[in-house]
Amino acid sequence: MKSTAHIKGHPIHPILIVFPIAFFIGTLLFDILALAGNRYDFAFVAICLQIAGVVSALLAAVPGIIDYLFTVPPKSSAKKRGTQHGLLNIFVVVLFFVAWLLKRDPYLPAFWIILLELAGVVGLGISGWMGGTLVYRNQIGVNPRYAGAGKWKEMHIDGRPEKVEVATADELQTDQMKLVHVHNKRIVLAKTEKGYVAFDDRCTHKGGSLAGGAMIYGTVQCPWHGSQFEATTGQVKAGPAKEGIVTYAVTEHNGKVYLNF
Ligand code: FES
Repeated sequence: MKSTAHIKGHPIHPILIVFPIAFFIGTLLFDILALAGNRYDFAFVAICLQIAGVVSALLAAVPGIIDYLFTVPPKSSAKKRGTQHGLLNIFVVVLFFVAWLLKRDPYLPAFWIILLELAGVVGLGISGWMGGTLVYRNQIGVNPRYAGAGKWKEMHIDGRPEKVEVATADELQTDQMKLVHVHNKRIVLAKTEKGYVAFDDRCTHKGGSLAGGAMIYGTVQCPWHGSQFEATTGQVKAGPAKEGIVTYAVTEHNGKVYLNF
């Protein structure tokens, strides 16, 4: 699924997260070195890294939240994982912020602050693992270009009309899909050898986005675990999904394609 917060197709969140990761790990290392060598200059570097870590983490969170809200498929296993990933990141930032506040207390042993930062780095590792799963398994921000798939297409339609113009007749090539947000739903418009079809952008297995999958000879394949559905009827052709997907009536008139509710 193509990232919503991107620069020329490159997701911004993975570009920015390297900064807080480096700064927070650096904070811990410099605080350990400061304690071991009784070095105030190292302690000062640790404080600078800590502030940079909190600020860069907040900046990295912005495209992350945008992708969480608008790219991660709703009601899916990835949404649940994304929620845990976000909450854990908030916890990590709070830990480092509290550690920074505690450094103002000259009577508090540095050991306790290092312990807090160590917990933060462990949290960062777990959260990073989840982020990796979101990208490498759930393909959030990945924009594959299968043969015939063309460029990612997406449109938003306001209101709740009963008949919605969603494309021109020659807009999509065979096997290309377009994600349409309408009636508070995510619906995939696709062109098959037999014409246009439309179906829910939700795999019935674990909620994968079918718009991010592959369409071949009238069959759409989910990108997460490979379930296949017949695009016209919505029937399951191959599991692990057991339930079919919802399909919608599509009509063509005067060179325009309409979705009918
Ligand atoms: S979510 Fe598992 S096959 Fe689609």
